[in-house]
Amino acid sequence: MSTTMDVPTRTQADYSQMQRAFYNERAQTLDDAKELVHLDFERAQRQAAATHAQMLLDFVQRTHPLARSTHDVPALFQSATAMPEGFRALDFGCGVGRLMEPLAQAGIAVDGVDISERMLGFAQANPALKTSRFYLGSGADCGEAPGEAYDLIYSHLCIQHICSRTVRQNLLRSFRALLRPGGVVFIQFHYYPEHMAGTVPLPHVPWSADHFSAEGTNSEADVWATPDELPLIYEDFSRHFDDLRLQFLTFPKGTVLFTDAYRAWFGHLVVSGSVGPRLAKRFYQS
Ligand SMILES: C[S@@+](CC[C@H](N)C(=O)[O-])C[C@H]1O[C@@H](n2cnc3c(N)ncnc32)[C@H](O)[C@@H]1O
Repeated sequence: MSTTMDVPTRTQADYSQMQRAFYNERAQTLDDAKELVHLDFERAQRQAAATHAQMLLDFVQRTHPLARSTHDVPALFQSATAMPEGFRALDFGCGVGRLMEPLAQAGIAVDGVDISERMLGFAQANPALKTSRFYLGSGADCGEAPGEAYDLIYSHLCIQHICSRTVRQNLLRSFRALLRPGGVVFIQFHYYPEHMAGTVPLPHVPWSADHFSAEGTNSEADVWATPDELPLIYEDFSRHFDDLRLQFLTFPKGTVLFTDAYRAWFGHLVVSGSVGPRLAKRFYQS
């Protein structure tokens, strides 16, 4: 008879090792790597414009200087389009660099972190990213990426594949350490409005879980954020960041998502926050 005692306890490190092996083994060619990023990579590339709009506008809304005169609304709009001098961004779980490329082409300094040497290799080989630096993460950190060096750390289509709240908490701590004062995190993952933690079907798990024994990742075993666990999500982000914003994008019912992995109705949840209560200060210090 087998008991749970027969199964050695898996740790956070085992989980990260499984994730790295998963991506390294499957990303044999650039096409394989693109398919891991998105089953319809070209469509995902087109969606990058909407992602950048949402992300960069959130960033400048948090960082632009306020117009001096309270009546100068045109000056407000003008200042709200300025990027700070020396701006540098970090893409966490950068994959082949889908979201880095348009930034780099616009002259924006952007670096990448990934758990997979093979994914990083494909990003590094992209001539459009020749000025970017790349870092191999342990799975729960950003590797050798420099501390207090970034104005923006963003992550798309990655955090939803990390089935451990502990790992995600360690990652948020790492992001905080790499951001400059006033820096911004912008993290996207999947949200399932019609589920509760207790109804998330295996092999997927709710936000609260530490599913170190997961055998797969990248949609084979995902974390599903649910309405009842929003307080936990808030708790995890508010431990390191201020001025939190939770932005829900729920796709209209019936949206065709072309893969069985997404049979349940879901949307995106983006959590953004700042290092320091810069937005709040505008109110309580004026
Ligand atoms: C679906 S791809 C998305 C790539 C990219 N963010 C994009 O949107 O084009 C997920 C990427 O996250 C990376 N990844 C998954 N878990 C990670 C972890 N714990 N630490 C760092 N990278 C991770 C994978 O290696 C893979 O390159």
